[in-house]
Amino acid sequence: MILNEWYAVLSSNEVKKNKVATVKRLGVDIAFFRDSQGKVWAIEDRCCHRGASLGAGKVIDDELQCPFHGFRYDGNGKVTTIPANGFDTPVDSRYKVRNYHVREVEDMIYLWWGRDYFEPDHEPKVFKDLTSSEFSYMEFSDFWAVHYTRAIENQLDVVHVPFVHKSTIGRGYKTLISGPLVVVTEDRIKFYVMAEVDDGVKKPLHPHEIKNHEKLNALEFQFPNTWHNIVTPDMRIFAAFAPVDEERTVIYIRYYQRFVKTPLLKWFVTLGGIWFSRIVLWQDKRVVLTQVPKYSEYRMNEKLIQGDLPIIEFRKMRARKIEEDENVL
Ligand code: FES
Ligand SMILES: [Fe+2]
Repeated sequence: MILNEWYAVLSSNEVKKNKVATVKRLGVDIAFFRDSQGKVWAIEDRCCHRGASLGAGKVIDDELQCPFHGFRYDGNGKVTTIPANGFDTPVDSRYKVRNYHVREVEDMIYLWWGRDYFEPDHEPKVFKDLTSSEFSYMEFSDFWAVHYTRAIENQLDVVHVPFVHKSTIGRGYKTLISGPLVVVTEDRIKFYVMAEVDDGVKKPLHPHEIKNHEKLNALEFQFPNTWHNIVTPDMRIFAAFAPVDEERTVIYIRYYQRFVKTPLLKWFVTLGGIWFSRIVLWQDKRVVLTQVPKYSEYRMNEKLIQGDLPIIEFRKMRARKIEEDENVL
């Protein structure tokens, strides 16, 4: 995993107040819990006493109690109480587990994956105009047995749409792909999609030949693992690709809309949207799970084409970040 990044790892509704949620993310078992103020904490899910999972533990007075012998951890991973030694006996500082910085933004929980001695040097970056105060949204999650790079690249893949989704979003056999025009900034890739029916005469345009790109469907990817499809200004799809480990990913998909605001009708429309999104993602899954290898890299034996430009930029961005990691002592 690339270091010094905020990874979207969980949806807020998966961590309930005064409850423990244990999940594997970025290859480690992590216990998330919410204190009485609603703040989320994340510590290693392995008791330093004798290795039990904290998953069956309890949240008591904003601390997490191990289910085995009752050691209590604060949100920083320090043991505050060892009941067998007496509730008031001070605890040596070597009794601790690793803690992780977390932030909660727009109902997603982000985890800082950094070097031990580095504090976060920035805050999680989100899609600013996509706020749950303006939009209604519904969500589902799906487990994929692939590295998260493959899952992300599928959402940067413009060329697959008329084939994989010919019964849904890819109706009309628009196989001729111009560009895409890709705008890359330090940690974001925005691209504009122009797909047409191939009349045998037209040739796909080069990215710089595309005019009025503002009118086209735009999608954006925020490094390291969130994505946003601006279907229309009032209808968006958001995705987070939470790495479980090197071979597995949980994808969170949200359908956001603000064109219907009437209470009950809004619910039906959003439900319809999320169901449709689920069908679309299943269509993707059938193919992506067959890709070999299960991860992607900048230099690999794949013969890409112009239409794959967003994927190429993603691979370049990862390669650059990996190199930056290696240059940090
Ligand atoms: S294993 Fe956790 S308190 Fe003993
Ligand atoms: Fe797709």
